[in-house]
Amino acid sequence: MNKKAVKIKIDDKELLLPIIKGSESESAIDITSLRKETGYITFDPGYANTGSCQSDITFIDGEKGILRYRGYPIEDLAGKVKFTDVSYLLLNGELPSIDKKSLFSQALKKEANIHEDMKRFFDGFPLNAHPMATLSSMVTALSAFNPVQTDDEQSINDTIIKILAKVKTIAAYSYRKYHGLPFIYPNQDLNYVENFLHMMFSDSQDTFHTEQVLVEALDLLLILHADHEQNCSTSTVRMAGSSMSNIYGAISAGIAALWGPLHGGANQAVLEMLEMIKNDNSDFKKYIQLAKSKDSGFRLMGFGHRVYKNYDPRAKIISKVAEKVLNKLNIDDPLLDIARQLERVALEDEYFISRKLYPNVDFYSGIIYRAMGIPTNMFTVMFALGRLPGWLAHWKEMINSPEFRINRPRQIYTGYTERKLK
Ligand code: CMC
Repeated sequence: MNKKAVKIKIDDKELLLPIIKGSESESAIDITSLRKETGYITFDPGYANTGSCQSDITFIDGEKGILRYRGYPIEDLAGKVKFTDVSYLLLNGELPSIDKKSLFSQALKKEANIHEDMKRFFDGFPLNAHPMATLSSMVTALSAFNPVQTDDEQSINDTIIKILAKVKTIAAYSYRKYHGLPFIYPNQDLNYVENFLHMMFSDSQDTFHTEQVLVEALDLLLILHADHEQNCSTSTVRMAGSSMSNIYGAISAGIAALWGPLHGGANQAVLEMLEMIKNDNSDFKKYIQLAKSKDSGFRLMGFGHRVYKNYDPRAKIISKVAEKVLNKLNIDDPLLDIARQLERVALEDEYFISRKLYPNVDFYSGIIYRAMGIPTNMFTVMFALGRLPGWLAHWKEMINSPEFRINRPRQIYTGYTERKLK
């Protein structure tokens, strides 16, 4: 055997653990035999050092600020191809040929409607329901209306198309419901992103008109969110799916995980933070101080990342697009100025420098959503829409993997030892 291995010694027992190397030379120690051979497990709260799978989908080098989908740098995809092409790429490994592209987009159009009876579900939610609560519930409900067939490649792909197509409709309808507006059917003449904007914003006469710059910006934002390897929500999708739960339930679990402010919910939190600072005389320096103080409980939302220890490449792109969209629409948003000031001061401050805290994907995205007229509580829904192909690609990869097993971490028990009932 010429594979590299590391030798460990525990309680006088020696064990050879194989080294696994990824295609970008990332290395891991394979500990699958550790507990069986030694009785020990590893301890890694937050999984910062734990590889949960081998994956061909997305590569990140957080130290260098690199993000690639199926080998393509994010900078080469964003704005150059469509979100639906990126979805196809993530799901199938290659960008679509012209024929495949057309089949994929026709299938998405064909599946865009939800069952008429599902529309009544929206009436059961209070008007002020958070759209993420609605989205997560409605995605689970989709499984009741669509047969869950995932026994062969074709039925898996068909189910994936259904989810991609229908989640966008549900997202738009949750907005319409929130604003007491009638639902608008998808329009077969429009592409994925246009259709979403149509179902969100068209008037009841069904006419769609929007600025091209907004269509392009939304397409680009969705691409930037499309995958991010084993992040919290994607790991949740894999975890839930690993019990062979149905795919709708696994995606719904991912939506719930994304909602938290440390993950996708940060985009809403950033906007709320910027508004709070604006209402506090735009005193951004005060909030930098608060973020540095451990006792304040305040964090600079949209800053920092578990993996990126360099500028998040997605934030770099979004920052430029925010400027472009606002200029094109002649919007002078004071929140963009506050965000820029916060970034400038933070990036010169020892606290942020020493901890390698940079703006992340959520820092500037809300400024663009706001310019589109998307309300703050819908921001995380937008993230979910973008991340959907990534979740689906990981779910598909997982169930086809020879390493597929139910995910079931262990623990170190620290509670009472056995005691008697008095
Ligand atoms: N503001 C102030 N201090 C921070 C921040 C922040 N945003 N983020 C991290 N720190 C400090 C933290 O207090 C700790 O300091 P110390 O070493 O003195 O204890 C150090 O930096 C390391 O932080 P951590 O919490 O151990 O890092 P983590 O990898 O566990 O957490 C994070 C990553 C993204 C949850 C965190 O940076 C954070 O809470 N950021 C704000 C929320 C946010 O923007 N989330 C969106 C992430 S990007 C979208 C996505 O893909 O989810």
